Amino acid sequence: MDAKMIERAKEVLDNNYQEGGFTIPCEGLYPFQWKWDSGFIALGFAHYDMVKAKTEIETLLNSQWGNGFIPHIVFHNHSDSYFPGADFHQSHLHEQSNKKYPSTGMTQPPVTGFILEKMLEISGHSEEMLEFVQQQIDKVYQNHGYFYNHRDLENEGLVYIYHNWESGTDNSPIWDDIWETMDPPEYEFERRDTTHVDPAQRPSKREYDHYLYIIDIAKKYHYEDDKIATHSPFLVLDPLFNAILIRSNEALIRLYRLLGGNKDKIDYLSSKLSLGIESFNNKLFNKELGCYVHYDLRNNKQLPYVCSSSFSPLYAGVPSAERAKTLVNTMLERFGGEGRYLCASFDPTHGRFNPRKYWRGPVWINLNWLLYHGLQRYGMHNVAKQVKEDTIELITKNGFYEYFDSRKDNPDSPQNGYGGNNFSWSAALLIDLLKEKN
Ligand code: SER
Repeated sequence: MDAKMIERAKEVLDNNYQEGGFTIPCEGLYPFQWKWDSGFIALGFAHYDMVKAKTEIETLLNSQWGNGFIPHIVFHNHSDSYFPGADFHQSHLHEQSNKKYPSTGMTQPPVTGFILEKMLEISGHSEEMLEFVQQQIDKVYQNHGYFYNHRDLENEGLVYIYHNWESGTDNSPIWDDIWETMDPPEYEFERRDTTHVDPAQRPSKREYDHYLYIIDIAKKYHYEDDKIATHSPFLVLDPLFNAILIRSNEALIRLYRLLGGNKDKIDYLSSKLSLGIESFNNKLFNKELGCYVHYDLRNNKQLPYVCSSSFSPLYAGVPSAERAKTLVNTMLERFGGEGRYLCASFDPTHGRFNPRKYWRGPVWINLNWLLYHGLQRYGMHNVAKQVKEDTIELITKNGFYEYFDSRKDNPDSPQNGYGGNNFSWSAALLIDLLKEKN
């Protein structure tokens, strides 16, 4: 069975691979290269086609800007099937943007550091892969430097995001609190996503008005970070984004040690790592909820909601062993139980939970992958095993969908896979989970 699933997963990845040397998340709905998708995709390829895995990372890093920024979408190609495209984002407005590769002017969680480390592991620490790491690692280091130089307003080792699309958890109910502080104009535009996917599973038109409005503000200031920090109504410390940055710091430190030399870089990353972990625990932990939460920098307050991002700091070694137990209890109490797959993207006990709608409730494979490894890191092997088994069962039963219903007995439909089908990271991460040597 595993072998058959791996073959099917490879087919999905190979079909989504494009001539330009990058892989689309899925046909129609997402026709370009996405930053965090690319990392997970490279991990899948690394198990059977290292050339494609390397190319995926190279094409992403080639899009880097002069200031170290790496964009969330790289428009290598033209496509009418997606909105908003390159014409809307206008990355050329930023002085140091990459003029060869049109892109968005926002970013996404920086997974590339730990992906490079995983690729090296999968290669069996081959000389060839170490050489590849040597060629690419400084670009990832500069990307981290960009974050700490431009997005760490309090110099606390935590970096902000200015748009919900930067979080990766696009329409999480957490953002509703921020939308309440805004009143964007009604945009006139043609949605493309809802021509590919049932609108009941996608964000609303009004949510898109907010998304577009924040981009317009950033464009008005030519995507300059200090102006965005002053004017964006959305300015958030996101636990998932910061956990991924810290985990990638850790990977870069280990990789630089393997390469030898690089003392200044190692010292820099180490100091940001320990500062980030300390601030994370002071600023983003919520005792009443028993988990990490988002922090709204614009309005200076925590956003007190539990979502799958709340547990992601396990992956980066952020909590103490005791706090990790609290996190897992919170996860099991609210998200677990007989009738549920782990781990819903938003608190199933909350009124804003929606089991079918994008990031407002469904299970996502990349979050499950991070949680699985986070739980393993803290020795919580039983819960880790449950997350892994649930992940494999969801894909095996439903197919390589983008997201899944967490209800085992879904009264609405026997089909529990939602959003795009033949979705690249669902395939890539399934390969990684199944190939793992236990
Ligand atoms: N995932 C977003 C979308 O739905 C963009 O990152 O278009």
